[in-house]
Amino acid sequence: MFVLVTGGSGFIGSHTCVELLNQGYDVVVVDNLCNSSVEVFQRIECITGKSVFFHQVDLLNKESLARVFETYSIQAVIHFAGLKAVGESTQIPLNYYHNNLTGTLNLLDVMAQNKVFDLVFSSSATVYGENNPIPYVEHFPLGSTSPYGRTKVMIEQFLKDAYASDNRWNVSVLRYFNPVGAHPSGLIGEDPNGIPNNLMPFITQVAVGKREKLNVFGGDYPTPDGTGIRDYIHVVDLALGHIKALEKLASQTEKSIDAYNLGAGVGYSVLDVVKAFEKASDQKIPYDIMPRRAGDIAEFYANAEKALSELGWQVSLSLEDMCRDAWNWQSNNPDGYASKLK
Ligand code: NAD
Ligand code: WQD
Repeated sequence: MFVLVTGGSGFIGSHTCVELLNQGYDVVVVDNLCNSSVEVFQRIECITGKSVFFHQVDLLNKESLARVFETYSIQAVIHFAGLKAVGESTQIPLNYYHNNLTGTLNLLDVMAQNKVFDLVFSSSATVYGENNPIPYVEHFPLGSTSPYGRTKVMIEQFLKDAYASDNRWNVSVLRYFNPVGAHPSGLIGEDPNGIPNNLMPFITQVAVGKREKLNVFGGDYPTPDGTGIRDYIHVVDLALGHIKALEKLASQTEKSIDAYNLGAGVGYSVLDVVKAFEKASDQKIPYDIMPRRAGDIAEFYANAEKALSELGWQVSLSLEDMCRDAWNWQSNNPDGYASKLK
């Protein structure tokens, strides 16, 4: 069975390709490589002994995308492709709207033309905005504070409207919490451009000597140690959630659109992560407590019961595993995919 993975050379997409290949799926990737490297495919092959069919395609180019659908008998799509930096999205909001919204509309159109209706979509916990109580439950009202987050809220609405108009659509919306870690092989992982925006890649770059120290954004939140609390999820657990979602779409006779939180259901503070990382890597992480980062909230984590009861999915990897694997990836590839394959 051919599965099309948009954004499949990116961080979460590449880990999902590995799990798809391990489960015997044939994988076609489209990616414009705006935030990823073609080097990842060689590494996916080292891990799995199998290859993906890669096409460098921008979702904004509908004709190129349509040609991919003509080439393979695609049965389902996992849609990761998009721009994802919250801060950057406030600087260049129209690029975010154009890329994420138009890219998705093109994809949906080409899918419908080819009568492919099974879709797994990468959404985010950011769709819960800042006014919901924690833990977040799927039925909560949605709203987001950044242009990036609003693209996710809007795409979720596109998908609901598409299903309401034509119930051949069969959609699983996966709302990720904070994906971190790397494949345990150390061959693939997160490779941000420039200064990392997110906590774990910043910590690993401090550990490997690329950055002097961590800036902890806020030490005065109403949390036990004053630092922000998040629900971190190992990227391999997250990748496996996509397989479960695909299996459900393929097996259900009644098509549907459903949203699922993919998180551990447990919150850790920034300082918890620093301590766990120091233990797992045997490296010291110097840090300074800085003012809060604009747009951050004190604490959020998932209620992950729906994914367990309806997808049969739950996390199996711990914070320690996340830190160990993130460090294994970074220490073996100090320059990410630009590092030589060992
Ligand atoms: P990533 O940037 O590593 O991967 C996204 C991929 O999409 C990249 O390889 C990029 O080159 C590609 N891409 C972007 N625009 C494209 C276009 N127009 N055409 C073709 N390819 C395009 O990001 P990731 O962390 O793997 O995230 C994957 C998805 O999950 C994204 O939709 C992101 O918004 C969502 N998500 C990520 C996180 C996170 O913390 N990483 C959390 C929640 C949701
Ligand atoms: C985690 C904690 C920071 C960096 C983001 C997006 C969200 C989703 C996941 C896509 C917070 C603190 C961070 C640093 C720090 N992505 N921190 N120093 O902000 O929870 O979520 O990624 O959908 O939409 O907003 O993740 O890793 O940036 O931050 O102290 O250098 O670490 O303040 O408490 P966040 P993060």
